Amino acid sequence: MKKRTVAEPYKIKMVEPLKMTTREERRHNIWEAGFNTFLLRSEDVYIDLLTDSGTSAMSDQQWAGLMLGDEAYAGSRNFYNLERAVQEIYGFRYVVPVHQGRGGEHLTARIKIQPGQYVPMNMYFTTTREHIERAGGIFVDVIIDEAHDPQNEHPFKGNIDRVKLESLIHEVGPERIAYIWMAPCVNMAGGQPFSMGNLRQVRDLTDQYGIEIVFDATRAVENCYFIKEREAGYADKPVRQILREMMGYADAITMSSKKDNLVNIGGFVATNDEEFYQSLRELVVVYEGLHTYGGLAGRDLEALARGIYEMVDDHYIYSRIAQVRYLGERIQAAGVPIVVPIGGHAVFIDAKQFLRNIPQDEYPAQALAAALYVDSGVRTMERGNVSAGRDPHTGKHRSPKLELVRLTIPRRVYTNLHMDVAAESVIELFEKREDIPGLKRVDEPPQLRFFSARFEPLRSSEVFGPVKQ
Ligand code: F0G
Repeated sequence: MKKRTVAEPYKIKMVEPLKMTTREERRHNIWEAGFNTFLLRSEDVYIDLLTDSGTSAMSDQQWAGLMLGDEAYAGSRNFYNLERAVQEIYGFRYVVPVHQGRGGEHLTARIKIQPGQYVPMNMYFTTTREHIERAGGIFVDVIIDEAHDPQNEHPFKGNIDRVKLESLIHEVGPERIAYIWMAPCVNMAGGQPFSMGNLRQVRDLTDQYGIEIVFDATRAVENCYFIKEREAGYADKPVRQILREMMGYADAITMSSKKDNLVNIGGFVATNDEEFYQSLRELVVVYEGLHTYGGLAGRDLEALARGIYEMVDDHYIYSRIAQVRYLGERIQAAGVPIVVPIGGHAVFIDAKQFLRNIPQDEYPAQALAAALYVDSGVRTMERGNVSAGRDPHTGKHRSPKLELVRLTIPRRVYTNLHMDVAAESVIELFEKREDIPGLKRVDEPPQLRFFSARFEPLRSSEVFGPVKQ
């Protein structure tokens, strides 16, 4: 029988009109924004694929939950609902809410890292590495080599390379490893999952040396879907069950609830380790708020608790991944170089291949993101040389192997016609790629520069107009 279409398991109850702009207006806007899509006004954006973070559409159940916010300073009812959701779905006894993911990363890094200790990760994430380094730790990338190759079809490019990890342990000694910080659906690798088999191996190895595993569990559900799809023995298991198994291998998790958890703000740290929990309780009050609200309103805690139950619905997670794949396959079919396999939250264009004649120090991904905005009002994000920043010791660009533009899909927000608009814009620019010029830096902040650095084109072009003298 012919394969039948499976549509979204929800319908639209409320709409948010979008402003339409002209190419001339968008050209003006991108110059104003210093060719940095973070500096555009969201009002001037038609389809916002900047990030999947905090951009989800909440359900009617979540909106109803907002009205049940208990805004008490201490012991809010909604905190206990969140606690129960985390216990039932993630399987951790203790939970400390924080305002968003990096709040939890900050607390965890401060508590668990002694200066000079190492923190191996499956590739870096910007805020996570920043918190490791600020706590005096040393980040080490132990992801498999395949993850650094955009064309490699490995089904689990988020896997940790056991040999890299074990040689680090031997080289520095287990006591100098603070913990392993392992991310499901590795963002910077293109939303690539790790396998349960790999996780089990890493757990065996760390058990031998008494090293802890902390997950950055931000996109764990999406990772579980890929396990269901690709790993033997999981096809018939509900995602909810796969998630529980995965979490069983971690000593603690930090979580940005702005992704998997389907809320616009929030995060938490969860663990079964009472001592760590006590330290978190002491520190959270200094930086975020009391341990029963962690910088969130009662209503936010309620929406979060409800989002946690909704995210493990197999029909939902299927349609989420299917939409990302739909966009990716359309772009790929036109010959545009993208990271494969297509990841869980975004389609990543390989800007080095797309703009072969622009050297990496002329920021090809930044230029392509700017060009996409001018062409169609689609906002995307650079994930390459600008995001990777400079080495704190040498001051040089880190020049990462991956120079990507990320088209990130918010959850439950856009239709596949929006995906078509984005795909057509990418394809048309690919046909006219010779026109896109490289960029030069005109302003750069010292940390997390991708948020606010400013650029200008190196030459006049059709897409950006004449270079100003
Ligand atoms: N970990 C991962 C893997 C992330 O992708 C993010 C955020 C964080 C931690 C930090 O969480 O934003 O709640 O403080 N990623 C966003 C993105 C910003 O667009 O990829 P946060």
